[in-house]
Amino acid sequence: MHDLADQPIGVFDSGIGGLSVLKALMAELPHERFVYVADSANAPYGERAGAFVSRRTLAIADYLTQRHHIKALVVACNTATAAAIHEARQLYPRMPVIGIEPALKPAVALTRTGRVGVIATTGTLASAKFAALLESMHGQADFVIQPCPGLAHAIEQSVELPNESGTSGPVYQLCQSNLQAMGPFGHGPGQIDTLVLGCTHYVFATTALRELAGPDIPLLSTGEPVARHTGRLLDSQGLRSESRLHATLPLLLTNGALSALQSAADRWLGLPAQHCQIADGLAQETAHKR
Ligand code: DGL
Repeated sequence: MHDLADQPIGVFDSGIGGLSVLKALMAELPHERFVYVADSANAPYGERAGAFVSRRTLAIADYLTQRHHIKALVVACNTATAAAIHEARQLYPRMPVIGIEPALKPAVALTRTGRVGVIATTGTLASAKFAALLESMHGQADFVIQPCPGLAHAIEQSVELPNESGTSGPVYQLCQSNLQAMGPFGHGPGQIDTLVLGCTHYVFATTALRELAGPDIPLLSTGEPVARHTGRLLDSQGLRSESRLHATLPLLLTNGALSALQSAADRWLGLPAQHCQIADGLAQETAHKR
């Protein structure tokens, strides 16, 4: 019987966006083992009904607990957290289930103009969870909220292209049209001086976003605070791994194209291709029902 503390931590996202969170987790918790699932066959989640995203979240939680015996689950997806974190916690009351939400509170602490931009998926921004978060920040800043349909998908598609830094590709174009729609960025009165990246995929569009918003506009993502929170939860439940001899590279699984996951793992985490595998038994939902 294995010691529960030596079991891996499960991490998942609709696709490759959650690798931005995995990167922070690996840096913060170098002695833990991670199993990452990219549900790419069912991505993107952002424009789907909450019931679909919820079903996927619970299916992946089941897969990771049954097949990989995880000791904790990090939902590295704002859209899935918004749709299903409560349900997942109810189903696994003894397992730490960590979610992610747009960094509104840190943005309020940082803004000087009082105008904060928030970009995320349609699903996240339409959720009751986001409405409650916004309500809790009432009066503390003006939030300019912009859903970016298609952007996570474009980032997902761009990973196998050799050069995504040009201004003509769909990632750049979508970042441009969405940021333009939000109004001017800058440090003058009435300008947006802080931008919250409320989708884990958007971290991988940082080059375009920085160029478009301006080099001195902070882009706030949540990987690092989530990683620190995960460490604290492991400690509080006596689940931190005792195997301190060496770090173990993560296992990355996908039910989409293996080559896409391999490119993303190489490009963003510097991980060799052999750590990526097809997720046996994790199916695509039939006919993409909503
Ligand atoms: N990466 C996810 C998020 O943080 C979802 C993107 C998508 O699948 O639309 O919201």
